[in-house]
Amino acid sequence: MREMTNVTCIEDLRTIARRKVPRAFFDYAEAGAYSEQTLRANRSGIEAINLRQRVLVDVSARDTATTILGEPVSAPIGLGPVAMTGLEYGNGEILACRAAHDAGIPFTLSTMSICSIEDVAGAVDKPFWFQLYVMKDRGFVRSLIERAAAAKCSALVLTVDLQVLGQRHKDIKNGLAVPPSLKIGNLINMATKPRWVASVLSGRRWTFGNLDGHVKGMKGVKSLAGWVGGQFDPALTWKDVDWIRSIWPGKLVLKGILDPEDAILAGKSGADALVVSNHGGRQLDGARSSISALPKIADKVGSDIELLFDGGIRSGHDVLRALALGAKACLIGRSYIFGLGAAGEAGVRKAIDIIRKEMDVGMALTGVNTIGEIDRRILSD
Ligand SMILES: Cc1cc2nc3c(=O)[nH]c(=O)nc-3n(C[C@H](O)[C@H](O)[C@H](O)COP(=O)(O)O)c2cc1C
Repeated sequence: MREMTNVTCIEDLRTIARRKVPRAFFDYAEAGAYSEQTLRANRSGIEAINLRQRVLVDVSARDTATTILGEPVSAPIGLGPVAMTGLEYGNGEILACRAAHDAGIPFTLSTMSICSIEDVAGAVDKPFWFQLYVMKDRGFVRSLIERAAAAKCSALVLTVDLQVLGQRHKDIKNGLAVPPSLKIGNLINMATKPRWVASVLSGRRWTFGNLDGHVKGMKGVKSLAGWVGGQFDPALTWKDVDWIRSIWPGKLVLKGILDPEDAILAGKSGADALVVSNHGGRQLDGARSSISALPKIADKVGSDIELLFDGGIRSGHDVLRALALGAKACLIGRSYIFGLGAAGEAGVRKAIDIIRKEMDVGMALTGVNTIGEIDRRILSD
């Protein structure tokens, strides 16, 4: 694809994705909750952190390799869970998983994916992570966990910050709320994106793959989304975490911790890692930026539990900043979704490659050779 040859940064992928993906789905990926204050804070918080330029240090032996949850990775990044990835580009979950695996980093499949756990497991040859939303129907939750185990998922990422849904104004205006009811203008807009239409029509599914056929009496996006809308459970507590810990024998990650008190509880929960996250600014508007929460949490529990981070990562330099503040690795959300929307699997590869190369140069210019050397000393006032 000619336009991809000029792509040099994540922002370029975003620009192309905005052209290629129907407005309703592009907006869905980009938006934050309510006034988008927290969404903006995630970026401005990261940009306010200065890296420390060092010179005349031998940086000829640079290596971005490290481990996440004890597994070797080529760089301290992973693809985070993103709902409806398969509507940004047909079979998006499978394509993103392949790109991640080829790059030597983990991929996380959302509960609310289009391709199902089984679709992805059947199309890739390495284990991936599965993200779990706890529904009121605990029998269904148990069956999802069993399906993730049967698919040999290597980690369960339990999302704890979506017990009720933050509102995104654009989704409502586009008719993409729960249940969805796309407006005529959006349908016309879709018809102007022939490559998107072709990719989605050739995809395996157009509905929530993990639910379709597994929830009694529910068929199609509309009825499934309606069911899900009533299924997020405001009664979710740490007791449910204990229950999930007791039935999932593998690695357990708690995603959506922003407060040091909660991080302490997470450290005692038996989870292997937590993700410092505000859901990419899509839940509590007015919550602090994810990056400003990270050092406070690292100070409290950094040596007790592995710390992952997400929220606003748009470059390799951003990854370095998060690592310096105590993260073992970063999950990427929109950065790879923009790549996917721009050019399918090639676009996700490009997004990963851009971030990895930026990291490498950033390591050189801050005077470090290995991920293990990165700490607050690579930051300046
Ligand atoms: C379009 C979209 C859908 C998302 N869906 C999920 C989801 O299904 N489960 C989940 O735990 N997090 C979900 N998230 C949150 C991401 O996993 C991650 O926390 C966030 O995107 C990180 O911020 P970033 O996009 O700035 O990198 C979603 C984020 C976006 C942008």
